[in-house]
Amino acid sequence: MEIDPRQATVDEMYRLLTTLITPRPIGWVSTRSVDGVDNLAPYSFYMGVIEANPPVVMVSTERRPDGSPKDSARNVLDTEAFGLNLVTTDLVEAMDRTSDAVGAHKDEFDLAGLDRRDATTVDVPLVAAAKATMECTLYDTMEVGDHIVIFGRIEHVIVDDELVTDGKIDVEKVDTVGRLTGSYYAKLERFQVDRPWQ
Ligand SMILES: Cc1cc2nc3c(=O)[nH]c(=O)nc-3n(C[C@H](O)[C@H](O)[C@H](O)COP(=O)(O)O)c2cc1C
Repeated sequence: MEIDPRQATVDEMYRLLTTLITPRPIGWVSTRSVDGVDNLAPYSFYMGVIEANPPVVMVSTERRPDGSPKDSARNVLDTEAFGLNLVTTDLVEAMDRTSDAVGAHKDEFDLAGLDRRDATTVDVPLVAAAKATMECTLYDTMEVGDHIVIFGRIEHVIVDDELVTDGKIDVEKVDTVGRLTGSYYAKLERFQVDRPWQ
């Protein structure tokens, strides 16, 4: 099979990219609107590490068919702040529930039955049950096609002690979930590769 992106439809390219570029980390983005409505939505066009110094993440949000930003993007553009909540296997159903398009007036924490707590450095809600959260300020934005790409600078990180061994975050304990395509998700199966040269 060969594909020429210039001949393929948008749907074909979307399907191709979301089945081949896998598993994708999920940025579970929490924001607060200027009217005080809390919002939560998952984004897998998400690069959790752009640079470590300064620590910057990237979330790509599609514009709606009428050209308006999704609620998460609207809130980030208005308030210049957002939270990222780690999606682990125990939270995957709740995370999926928050992908429903419910309108800006609806509180998506309530919708998914999730408790929240306030972030410490920015005015955003965080998922109380998330095993790690990152608090971000708006670093930059970029337009790519129909997407508003949001870059966020990480201002504060909270990690549950449950994920820590001997003072370090333990790769064996972080059960993150990756997105494939449609309703498919992937769990971690860890293994190490021998590095004879080291
Ligand atoms: C796992 C998952 C990943 C998603 N990734 C993206 C994404 O990267 N970009 C995007 O625009 N929408 C993505 N969506 C769809 C949004 O979550 C959905 O449009 C949501 O309603 C947006 O909510 P908001 O308007 O409150 O921001 C994803 C949905 C799921 C379930």
